[in-house]
Amino acid sequence: MQTSGNTVLITGGNSGIGRGLAEAFLARGNDVIITGRDRSKMEATVAANPGLKALELDVDDPKAIAAFGQKVVRDFPTLNVLVNNAGIMRTENLADGSTGIAEATIMTNLLGPIRLTAALLPHLQAQASAAVLNVSSGLAFVPRSEFPSYCATKAAIHSWSQTLRRQMRDTSVEVIEIAPPYVQTMLTGEAQASDPNAMPLDEYITETMSALEAQPQSGEILVKRVFFQRWAEREGRYDEAFARLNA
Ligand SMILES: NC(=O)c1ccc[n+]([C@@H]2O[C@H](COP(=O)([O-])OP(=O)(O)OC[C@H]3O[C@@H](n4cnc5c(N)ncnc54)[C@H](OP(=O)(O)O)[C@@H]3O)[C@@H](O)[C@H]2O)c1
Repeated sequence: MQTSGNTVLITGGNSGIGRGLAEAFLARGNDVIITGRDRSKMEATVAANPGLKALELDVDDPKAIAAFGQKVVRDFPTLNVLVNNAGIMRTENLADGSTGIAEATIMTNLLGPIRLTAALLPHLQAQASAAVLNVSSGLAFVPRSEFPSYCATKAAIHSWSQTLRRQMRDTSVEVIEIAPPYVQTMLTGEAQASDPNAMPLDEYITETMSALEAQPQSGEILVKRVFFQRWAEREGRYDEAFARLNA
């Protein structure tokens, strides 16, 4: 995809990777609309980034997504890029018998992107050039046992992106998967945001935008740090990678 001249909608754009992408797209001459639930975080993001637009959307709410889809294409008729970024990551003990975290995770991380894409795809297909960017994870390729449903939703996003790409192959809609490694954000809380083992957010965004500009044929945006997980199986070191991540 071209990285300038678009109208870009980014879910979960009020913090972390979504905010980083929003700022990077804005700096490259795109119109950018972010969504989130936390009004104060959205206001702070907009105040720090003149020109950025923000709309409230809870991607767990199917009715809200349908209404949002109609409103956003009415208010932003040039919308041509959707970034499905909003996500949650919670630890789960599968032995305790509850399914609350699994259901919440599937709702936000998998049904959210599926529903919002469905709501916007007719509009995107009518644009001369369009893209759907789905944020998966390195954990889609080698999971961590503390996060069963999280890893499963990200593996599902990888699979779903492949099939969406195939179905969109004769249309104007490009389908791109962004698979981040472990990055310094608040996804699992304060400790992650300052973990020296996690990739600094600004470095992650810089490398990601360079990869996007290079327009890889695979449709996957990978930074070097995620190769360990992404290519573990292909390189015959899956068991070793799984053991290392779950040590
Ligand atoms: N950081 C990493 O290490 C890493 C690695 C691989 C993949 N990822 C993926 O990157 C994406 C962004 O995560 P992040 O690391 O930037 O974490 P983050 O800073 O916690 O951002 C998550 C964003 O998702 C939004 N969100 C969560 N639930 C939502 C809902 N129901 N409706 C609307 N928005 C919702 C949050 O908005 P509110 O605050 O308004 O709820 C927030 O803006 C996620 O999909 C995550 O799985 C992150």
